[in-house]
Amino acid sequence: MKDVKVLFTEEQIQTRIKELAKEMNRFYNGEEIYAVCVLKGAVMFAVDLVKYLEMPLKMEFIRLSSYNGGTKSSGRVNAVDISLPDLNGKNVLIIEDIVDTGLTAKFLLDFLNNNFHTKSTKFCSLLDKKITRVNDIEPDYYGFEVGDQFLIGYGLDDDGYYRNLRFIGYKNV
Ligand code: IMP
Ligand code: MG
Repeated sequence: MKDVKVLFTEEQIQTRIKELAKEMNRFYNGEEIYAVCVLKGAVMFAVDLVKYLEMPLKMEFIRLSSYNGGTKSSGRVNAVDISLPDLNGKNVLIIEDIVDTGLTAKFLLDFLNNNFHTKSTKFCSLLDKKITRVNDIEPDYYGFEVGDQFLIGYGLDDDGYYRNLRFIGYKNV
């Protein structure tokens, strides 16, 4: 991958994930949770994170999209598949790859609020692009804060490619 510059190495990512899991294990204190992975971007993060979570846990997968194949958020969130079990009274942990404008996160949190009375709802994102936020969404947990740069790898794609990289980086153009 000569054309890709590394921002966070595989080791940095895995170390941070273990730290996040430790915080979550402390917070949930053995209570059961539903870990909701937002496909496709969060797939790598979600599967690595849950390996270090120690409470009884069920994984759910929903699919949202807001990008139209370009590198800017489309401003509209598309619920490709948002079928979820009954989450009333459950602890819900949403797992995202990156919060950019915050529109996807807001859409999802509103959806949960409108459909369930959860016991708790926490939002975890590996990356937090705070500078491009258009609302007041703040993830409860995040791995790394990043700048306004289009990132790829470890689930993050550019037109579908690069999700398989073990590190997070950017194209050196
Ligand atoms: P938001 O709705 O603008 O917060 O965008 C959230 C979604 O846009 C994320 O879940 C990602 O799938 C995608 N996204 C935002 N920034 C990037 C990036 O730098 N690289 C790849 N995908 C991104
Ligand atoms: Mg995403």
